[in-house]
This record gives sequence, C-alpha cells and structure tokens, in this order.
Amino acid sequence: MGFLKKSRKPTPFSSGAPKTVLHKNLDFTSTEQYKVLRTNLRFTLPEGVKCPIIGITSSMRGEGKSTTAVNLSYVLAESGKKVLLIDGDLRIPSIAKKMEISGDYGLTNYLMKTEIRPLDSLRSSVIDNWYIMPSGELPPDPSELIGSRRMGALLKTMSEEFDYIIVDLPPVNIVTDAMAISEHITGLVVVVREGYTEKGEVERCFRQLKLSNVKVLGCVINGATHDGASYGKYKKYKYYKYYKYSSEETASK
Ligand SMILES: Nc1ncnc2c1ncn2[C@@H]1O[C@H](COP(=O)(O)OP(=O)(O)O)[C@@H](O)[C@H]1O
Ligand SMILES: [Mg+2]
Repeated sequence: MGFLKKSRKPTPFSSGAPKTVLHKNLDFTSTEQYKVLRTNLRFTLPEGVKCPIIGITSSMRGEGKSTTAVNLSYVLAESGKKVLLIDGDLRIPSIAKKMEISGDYGLTNYLMKTEIRPLDSLRSSVIDNWYIMPSGELPPDPSELIGSRRMGALLKTMSEEFDYIIVDLPPVNIVTDAMAISEHITGLVVVVREGYTEKGEVERCFRQLKLSNVKVLGCVINGATHDGASYGKYKKYKYYKYYKYSSEETASK
C-alpha cells in the first residue's frame, strides 16, 4: 500500500532530507509504518487527555526504543501536533546523538533547575513544532530522579504547552526507571525486536510491568532481523506491527 503513494514533500526519511536525519535506514515505507503506529495510538490512548505522555521502553537494550521514540515523535509533529521528545534514558542517552545535536543541556537541567533556557532553544531544525529535550548531564540516581515529584511537575508543566510528549526510557529488565515514571505518564509503548529479544525476556518484561500496574498502551514489533554484527544489510525497517496489548492475556500464558 505504501509503495503506490508518493511522498509529497521531503521528510527526514526520504531523499532531499535535511542533514539532521534520524536514522539512515529509514525510508518512506518505514515512515508509513510509524504513521500506522500514530493512528493506532489514538485508539489505545484514554479519551479526553489533553496531552498524552507516552513512555517508550522494552525489555533489553538495542531493541529500538530510541529509534521508535524519535520517529513516533516525528510523525506526530509532522501531522501538525506540537510535540516534545524527552530523552529519559539517563543512563545511556542517545537522542542527542541520533538527532546530531548537543546532549549537554536538557532534562537534568530542568529537573535540577540549573540554567533554564527558553523552551524555544529545544526546537528542532527539522520541523518547527518538534521539540527535543536531550538528557543533559547524567545524574548519579536516575531511577529516583525519573520517578521524582520534580519529574511529575515538569511533565505537568510541559503538558500545558504541548499536544504530545514522548519519553524515551531505559529497558525494563535492566533498571526500574520505566516503572518509576509510570505515575507521571499516560502509558507505555513497549518495543520488541523480532529475532533479537528472547521470549523469556519479553515475558519477564511484561510480568514486571503488570506487577507494577503500569498502563501498557501497545507494543511495537521492530522487524529487523539481527545478524549479531551489523545492521548494514537492513536497508529498511521491514515492518512495524502495532497491536493492542492486553496484560491479562500475556500474563496467563
Ligand atoms: N528496524 C531496525 N532496522 C535496522 N536498524 C535498527 C532497527 N531498529 C533499531 N536499529 C538500530 O539498532 C540500534 C539500537 O537501536 P536503538 O533505538 O538505539 O535501541 P534502544 O534504544 O532500544 O537501545 C541502533 O543503532 C539503531 O539504529
Ligand atoms: Mg535507547
């Protein structure tokens, strides 16, 4: 379906893109898949939330959380929404690197109230209504900070300014940050990388999320096959499937 349509204007994923490209492997097909994710989210988000705050997590590292966070926030911004992407991985941040911007200033500055700059300084050069908040300097206690009242207050303030907030988070099976932030966000999208993540890890992840009573909005299957060495041969994202996740179903399996 996506192949027949032509992209009307250049996007960061198609040729003619600005240099601030997100992911070299992204092309029009994958953009379509992120648009499907964007649409499906509308069905799983609770009604009447002015600014949904969506955390992106997974069971392990390298499953495509940050890639998903960047691209989901991009397609939302492209649809005209005012979007804030926050690098909430205060352990191994990667949003600034992916966006080719400096990561020194960001979330931790806001949380520690050091050197607050105007929101406009976060505006991306790719789309006007897309704002990127890198991690800032890394703190000694990421879990506490990400679950703190300060974090809640920051998200609340930001949600008055934005239509969507996307928070990139660390993996569930490694640290507790994604659970710690749960009371401050609308819900989580969980990324599972096909052919990469062990079934046991996925189960462990969902078990953990269920125990913590976190709202899971959905699940993204990142379809690249992993060859253990490089991603070079994967010219495109084969597919992204998005489906409604029912914690009861998975837990009973
Ligand atoms: N579907 C995919 N096809 C090819 N490369 C991918 C895909 N998804 C992620 N990657 C690459 O895999 C690496 C890990 O992805 P990333 O989004 O940083 O994972 P995470 O945030 O979950 O640790 C990155 O180099 C990213 O560019
Ligand atoms: Mg990441």
